[in-house]
This record gives sequence, C-alpha cells and structure tokens, in this order.
Amino acid sequence: MKHSFIESRLGLMIVLILIVISFGGLAEIIPLFYTKEVTHALATVEPLTPLQLEGRDIYIREGCYNCHTQMIRPLRAETERYGHYSVAGESAYNHPFQWGSKRTGPDLARIGGKFTDEWQRVHLMNPRDVVPESIMPAYPWLAKAKLSGNDIVSKMKALRLLGVPYTDTQINHAKETVAGKTELDALIAYLQQLGTGIKSKR
Ligand code: HEC
Repeated sequence: MKHSFIESRLGLMIVLILIVISFGGLAEIIPLFYTKEVTHALATVEPLTPLQLEGRDIYIREGCYNCHTQMIRPLRAETERYGHYSVAGESAYNHPFQWGSKRTGPDLARIGGKFTDEWQRVHLMNPRDVVPESIMPAYPWLAKAKLSGNDIVSKMKALRLLGVPYTDTQINHAKETVAGKTELDALIAYLQQLGTGIKSKR
C-alpha cells in the first residue's frame, strides 16, 4: 500500500531515492574527516622547500599531470612496479594534490631518488637522449628560465593558511634560496623528493 503510494509519484520517489543514496555516501565520507591517518601528515613527511615548491608549480604549469599520476593503487601490479601504494598522509601538505588520473607515462609518486639529478636533467631536456623510444615532450626552455622568487613568500604564506607548517624563518629566507636558480633546477628538486616522505619505499 505505502509502496504503491510512493511508486506512483515519481517526484517523491526521486527525492526519497536521493536521501537513501546520500546516507550511503555520507557514511563513507564523513568518517574520513576525523581519521588521523587521512587528515594528518605522516611524521616523516616534510613540507616542500621553497625550490621544490617552485618546481611543483612548474610541474602544474607544464601539464605533467596530463600524462603522469602520483597515485599508486593498492594492487599487486602497481606495488610491484612502483613501490608502496600511496597513503593519504603523504599528500597532507599538497595543495592542490597531484594525484592525476591519466597515465601516458609511468606513475611518479615514488620517482624521488630513482634516477640521478643529471639523468633527470638530460631526460627533461630531451627524453629521447636517455629513453630512445620515449614519446614524452622535451622541455628545453626550463634550463634557460631563471626564477625571480618574487612570489615565493606569498605562496608559502598561502600554504601556511592551509595548514602547511612553514616557519617565519623559512618564509623570510625563501626568496634568496630560489632567486637565480633555473626552472629546471626547481622541477628536478621537486621530482627528487616525490615519495621520499614514506619510509618503506620498495
Ligand atoms: C605526452 C605525455 C607526457 C607528458 C606531458 C610528460 N611526460 Fe613524462 N613521461 C612520458 C612517457 C611516455 C614516459 C616514459 C618514457 C620515458 O621515460 O621518457 C615518461 C617518463 C617520465 C619520467 C621517468 C619515469 C620513470 O619511472 O622512468 C619522468 C621523471 C617524467 N616523465 C617526468 C615528467 C615531467 C616532470 C613532465 C612535465 C614537465 C612530464 N614528464 C611530462 C610522457 C609524458
């Protein structure tokens, strides 16, 4: 009886279906906001240094995330290839996080330390010099572009508002540590720290 009352009224049924579904979603999502492993950084994770932070912005500007994820899923095929699956506490200081969803190239979540700085430099200047079959674009202009460091202080202050624990000293010295470095230096510094915040790497 009650069923036929609801089922014969489409608008009411849609509303009730949405309420039921939202309970399912909320039951999964709300606890995440209160789970320490999800909202707090791992004890071993450090905020990005000013140079790495500039590198992170170049990574975004150049669209590296269109071909590379930074998210290792907890599946055997992934962990065998890339190392420990990604955990939320690793990304706690990343605003915005760079998990991505498209893999034309390999995942980069644990790329830090896999190659030398020099390999990264050659690879970014022209990937085919080290991986002949590579289809990755070359980024030679990064070696010429110098960082001014003009907006690093505001970037760090904005991140501090979002909960990244930068100290006043770090912020005050930020400009002098990045000014004059090339964009290539910054991007490599960023790549070399990826995945180093978690102890059990491989
Ligand atoms: C059009 C897609 C594409 C874009 C855009 C791209 N890559 Fe790649 N990348 C690849 C492919 C394909 C490979 C695998 C072949 C190789 O090593 O060159 C790769 C490999 C890599 C590797 C080596 C990974 C490993 O484990 O061997 C790094 C590091 C890397 N890319 C960084 C970057 C960075 C940084 C950017 C942005 C400046 C970028 N890529 C942009 C496609 C891309």
